Amino acid sequence: MSGASTPSNDQPQQTWSQRFEGSLHPAIEVFNASIGFDIQLIEYDLTGSQAHAKMLAKQGIISESEATQLVDGLAQIRAEHRAGTFHPTIADEDVHFAVENRLTEICGAIGKKLHTGRSRNDQVGTDTRLYLRDQIGQIRVALRAYQAALVSHAEQHVETLIPGYTHLQRAQPISLAHHLLAYTEMAERDWQRLGDVLKRVNISPLGAGALAGTTFPIDRHYSAELLGFEDVYRNSLDAVSDRDFAVEFLAAASLIMAHLSRISEEVIFWASQEFSFVKLTDACATGSSIMPQKKNPDVPELVRGKVGRVYGHLQAMLTVIKGLPLAYNKDFQEDKEGLFDAVKTVNACLEAMTILFNEGLEFKPQRLAEAVAEDFSNATDVADYLATKGVPFREAYNLVGKVVRTSLAANKLLKDLTIEEWQALHPAFEPDIYEAIAPRQVVAARNSFGGTGFEQVREALQIVKSRLN
Ligand code: ARG
Repeated sequence: MSGASTPSNDQPQQTWSQRFEGSLHPAIEVFNASIGFDIQLIEYDLTGSQAHAKMLAKQGIISESEATQLVDGLAQIRAEHRAGTFHPTIADEDVHFAVENRLTEICGAIGKKLHTGRSRNDQVGTDTRLYLRDQIGQIRVALRAYQAALVSHAEQHVETLIPGYTHLQRAQPISLAHHLLAYTEMAERDWQRLGDVLKRVNISPLGAGALAGTTFPIDRHYSAELLGFEDVYRNSLDAVSDRDFAVEFLAAASLIMAHLSRISEEVIFWASQEFSFVKLTDACATGSSIMPQKKNPDVPELVRGKVGRVYGHLQAMLTVIKGLPLAYNKDFQEDKEGLFDAVKTVNACLEAMTILFNEGLEFKPQRLAEAVAEDFSNATDVADYLATKGVPFREAYNLVGKVVRTSLAANKLLKDLTIEEWQALHPAFEPDIYEAIAPRQVVAARNSFGGTGFEQVREALQIVKSRLN
């Protein structure tokens, strides 16, 4: 059946009770089996089973020597799996049966004692939680690396200016570091959110049995403790039928993807000839098969394109649990592939974006400086200037609107107006207007808490860096 050694063919293939006379239709056997994908849970299945065996011995349900044989047998399966010699087949149905079958080959009849006081229903819930707990830890580490990559650019570009946009129209110039730190804040929430999800992932369903608990004097708290769970489910029905934690994880994963997709979109247009705010290095760009001049931003495009997979898995999971009666239903087997793919996608995208920011792109300060000097994004500052000289803001705003219109018609920028022209518009204008509307000054002056003023940005950068340590 499973295993490194040749399976004996003199036993029925079926793992269920003798209630069954016939065997499964071969196509249904394939349809029913989850071994093709839940083999990914094997390390967690082995760990969970070892804890269960120890608990059974502690409670006197099996003997110490039996527990030792089971724990060692499970360790042997782990070694076989890692060596690539453990090859379960469709006949094993799922990872849980595959392990139990192989354990029985290794330990003989004692292997059949492992499943005492347990069901695959609490077992699969345990495995999935242990898996997700590990993965959440890894994704949080990856989020930190991604933040660090953004920070390395932010540190260099506190005083590099970039046009700030609303409606993708030039609005006000900002510090490039401020722009990048907005994304580290999103990643910070993602990191925190995963920590919150972890609280509800890290609860043990083990020992809930099929649905109702068990007649054996098990100690659920002990097996939970061995497995590092923070708590145990209080209700056995809820324990085997709760997949809320998977939904929560997928929601958190979806937001990570949303955030990565937003920055991807910006990188894509920054790299366009029209913007030219960044240059893609050869490490992360690809060429066209027919247009030799092209350098394509494949990394952010792929990240943007992969978002739908994770959103889709969230939707699928919500739909799986919808309308399910208590307790376990086979529908739950559909929870795994989406989770696995979401984990893989988020990890891959975080890694790719980290590499992109570490070595795949360079900002072009010269071009950015030209960009902020070539527009009317300092118009608000003219209005603010008049307001500080006592002109009511709305009146100042209207006046500046007129200035922008006449300047546009004369093909001039605000900085090109002569002092006579300014004073003809309003007597409150003095020669310090030129300093007040210089891009650098415009940015530096926005020193309100959380604003783009350099002082604020430097403080924010310190805080972000301290989180990384
Ligand atoms: N392969 C199953 C799953 O993924 C394991 C639990 C099966 N339980 C059952 N009662 N058929 O959910």
